[in-house]
This record gives sequence, structure tokens and C-alpha cells, in this order.
Amino acid sequence: MAQQRLIGRREFLRRAAGATAWLAGAGTFFDPPATAAPAASSKSAAPDLVLALTASPGETQILPLPGKPTAVWRFTARVLKGEGASVRPSPGGYLGPTLRLKKGQRVRIEFDNQLPDPAIVHWHGLHLPEAMDGHPRYAVGPGKPYVYEFEVINRAGSYWYHPHTHGITGRQIYMGLAGMLLVSDEEEQDLRLPQGESDLPIVLQDRAFGRDNQLAYISGEGNVDRAGSGMMGGGGMMGGGMMSGMMGFLGDEIFVNGRRNTVFPVASRAYRLRLLNASNSRIYRLAWGDATPLTIIATDGGLLERPERRAAVTLAPGERIELFADFSDRSVGATLAMRSLAFEDPMGGMMGGMMRQGKLPSGAAFDVFRIRVDRRDGRSARLPERLSALPRLKEEEAVNFGSPRVFRLAMGMMRWGINGRTFDMDGVADDEIVKLGTSEVWEFANDASAMMAMPHSMHLHGAQFRVLDRMSSGRRTELRESLLDAGLKDTVLVLPGERVRILAPFSRYTGLFPYHCHMLEHGDAGMMRNYSVRA
Ligand code: C2O
Ligand code: CU
Ligand code: CU
Repeated sequence: MAQQRLIGRREFLRRAAGATAWLAGAGTFFDPPATAAPAASSKSAAPDLVLALTASPGETQILPLPGKPTAVWRFTARVLKGEGASVRPSPGGYLGPTLRLKKGQRVRIEFDNQLPDPAIVHWHGLHLPEAMDGHPRYAVGPGKPYVYEFEVINRAGSYWYHPHTHGITGRQIYMGLAGMLLVSDEEEQDLRLPQGESDLPIVLQDRAFGRDNQLAYISGEGNVDRAGSGMMGGGGMMGGGMMSGMMGFLGDEIFVNGRRNTVFPVASRAYRLRLLNASNSRIYRLAWGDATPLTIIATDGGLLERPERRAAVTLAPGERIELFADFSDRSVGATLAMRSLAFEDPMGGMMGGMMRQGKLPSGAAFDVFRIRVDRRDGRSARLPERLSALPRLKEEEAVNFGSPRVFRLAMGMMRWGINGRTFDMDGVADDEIVKLGTSEVWEFANDASAMMAMPHSMHLHGAQFRVLDRMSSGRRTELRESLLDAGLKDTVLVLPGERVRILAPFSRYTGLFPYHCHMLEHGDAGMMRNYSVRA
């Protein structure tokens, strides 16, 4: 394993100052173009918050003793200037710390790549200038820094951060590189939702282990290599393995906040639970184990107008939901499970067969985590019936109202693609150019053939959109029945046979932004494209 190197701040700044030298360096795919300068808007004022964020190899005892510790990659962060509470470590596992930002804050993040891989960090859901967004073309090599400077313009919500290195994002996130990024604003603070200890980030992932307690991922042959000695010495996944690997990775057990068998000890009061599906390819159908309805207060882009009550909610890779969970009438000692309910696997034909293998196949029912009431708390909390005013987004105002821009999701020539094209680092096609200051209707068409029925979790950088509707040629299924398309979204699940229309605004920043499937193996195998926002 690579030796972890910790560098001092002085050394970091020296390297960052020398950035222009390496920008002009060898023209490998991960060298950033020469435009990697802070956005003009943030040059004017000193940042309110300065963080140091490092990605480095480490190890953690995630499987019980006397087993060996597991090699992982992890984010660590420190506050260099500003409120100490902006970084909250996630103890006991591999997960990165939770970052807490405020709307309007000017933030500087000094990223230090101490991995043996190139890497770049993407702030999933935040609306940022291109050079701050973590596009794979800005990836920096081992030992290199990348400095982010931006203003937080998003509304309050549960966002997240993860590497976005082309072709190996799935492996890098799998090794442990992910964390939540929470934004707060005044509208949200006025609601007096549960705070502090009662506001829990809950990150859902699945993992598989091979020999010596080491993480098993997809091998060069395209299979999950449970027999191998882990992934640290293994070859890369550049270009993304073969068939079964490309269908999407499924682990054998569930990890929550980087730990297995996660139990949250709570007091008998109300909680705000922020759930993120940071799994590589697994879809969850979440429900309380005792059939209490879920009270959903937010989706990807922040608070809903009003709470939604649902028996179950589908959560696809990349998506978030926030729950209001009131445990005030539960007694000390009571436990409650968050389940993923069984569903008919949406993958048909030959591909479906592959996803139905393994210890925890797609669509299996299982416990995701447990809540245990371990102390009394007299406080009762009231959830307001009106939560937020959503930004106005009207379909009739779209520049292409009535004739959506269609994106066909399919696999051809053994690679995933969008409109028959795979990812091209700097490339953008004529039909992928949008105009700054407009909004558009986009349609994701997942016209399933019998062999290739596969769900896709479609994500846009640079925009929070509204889901307008879904048309389907297929039958009603459990998964479809529990989809929640409310609020602002940056990721939307498109089931086989569906056409999903979204309304996306392109505001504030010009530049090149990715849109892709957030089933990480699909994205790494080419199901990603750029769109360009032009003035
Ligand atoms: Cu969370 Cu481009 O991804
Ligand atoms: Cu993103
Ligand atoms: Cu996909």
C-alpha cells in the first residue's frame, strides 16, 4: 500500500503556487486545461471558510476482530479558517467527514491528492463554475493539489462530494471516497427542524470482501473478485471491465456511514434523517420496518413545499431524501429497522440474470440500518405543514417547449452510451449545446429491448431540475410505485421502458458540464457525456 504522506500547509501552498507548472505538463488525459483558475466572482473577496481536504490511503477495522484491518481510501478534512463545526468527522468507518456549508458563504477548499491515482473532487448537486465542479478533465496526479474557490449559491439541502476521475470513479468511491455536504440557509433555519445531534447524515452503500478482509471489486475480467487479495494491488478498471462488471456492482452486505450493522442510538424525540444512496449501482426501496409511513421533507435539491407521506420510497444511486422521524412516542429500548423492501428486479433478459446473483441480489429485502431508543427526551417537535417555496420553474417557459431534447440510453458495442455516443473528455456534440439563461425540457428515453432492460440513474451537473412526467410502456412494478419525483432533483431514475421528461434551467455559469448515469460502472464504461452552456 502506498505510504501515507502528510504535508504541511506551507508545503501545500508551495505546491499549489507551482500549479501552473504542472498544468502545462505532460498531456495525459488527467492534466487539467489551463483555465483552472478561481471564478472571477470569488476573486473579489476573502473566503469565509477555508478547508484542507485530503484523499489518502488508510486502513480501518471494519470487520470484527480478530480479522485484519481493511485497506480503504478516505477523505479527511480540517478547518483552516472559519467555523470549526463546518467539518464533522464520520467515526468508526471509512466514510469522509460531513461538510456543513451555508448559502452565500465564500468557500476555499485546498484539495490534496495523496492517492496513487489521479483524482478530482466533485460537489454533487452544487451549482458551480466549470473549473470548480470537478469535471474529470481537471483531475490531478498523485501528490498534486487542486484549489477550489466558490460561493455557495444552492438552497439548503443534502448534497455530497466524491471523486470524478474518468473511468475509475466507481473504484475510487468504492474504496471509501465519499462524504455528505450539507447546505443550510435562512428559510430552512426558520423552520426549526431537528438540529445538531438530531440531524443525522445516513450514507447507504454496499460492499463485498475478498481474502484477508479486503474490499472486493470488479476485476479486470469483469467479475467481482471475492477470491482475490483485495483491490490495492489489482490492475485498474480503466475503460471498465467486461460484461458483468459493466452491468453494475452489487455488494454482499450493506454499509451505513462506512460501517456494517449500523445502529443509531436515539432519544425519544424527533429527528431529521438525511439519506444518501452512495452505492455504486444498488437501488433501495426504503420503508420503516413496522410500516409507519415515511415522512419525506426533502429530495436532492432541498426541502419540498410540503411533507410527503409514503409507505415506501425508491432511492437510486446518487439520490437523496430527507425524512422527519418522530420517535417521541417510542419507549426506551424500542428498536425500529429501516428496510429495503423486496422488488421485482427491473432488469430483464440476460442482464437481469447477472444482477440476481450474489448474496444480496438486486430486489432482495434486507435491513438497511436500525434505530434504538436509548434515552428519554420530553421535547416534542412539530413539523410545519408548509416547508418551503420552491423556485418557480414553468414548462411553458422552456425554449424548446413542446419538442424535448431526447437522450436515448442504450448499450451498443459492449459500451454504455447516450444517443449512441460514449464519453469524450473535452467533446460536445451539436445537439448538446444549451443557451445560458434558458430552461429546456430534456427527455431520457430508456427504450428497453428484451436483452438490455436496465434502469439508469441519470444525473446532471450544473442544474437542479424538476421532473415533469414519466411515460411507460411497461407494467406497474413495486419500484415504479415508490418513485418520488417531487421537489428539485439532480438525479432521476429511469426504469426500463420509461421516458422521463425533466425541466432544467441553465443559469449563471457557462462551461462544459457532465451528465451521466450515476450507476458508477455505467458512467465509467462511457455512459457519460458533456453538455455545453454558452452565452
Ligand atoms: Cu455524483 Cu457526476 O456525479
Ligand atoms: Cu454531480
Ligand atoms: Cu446506467
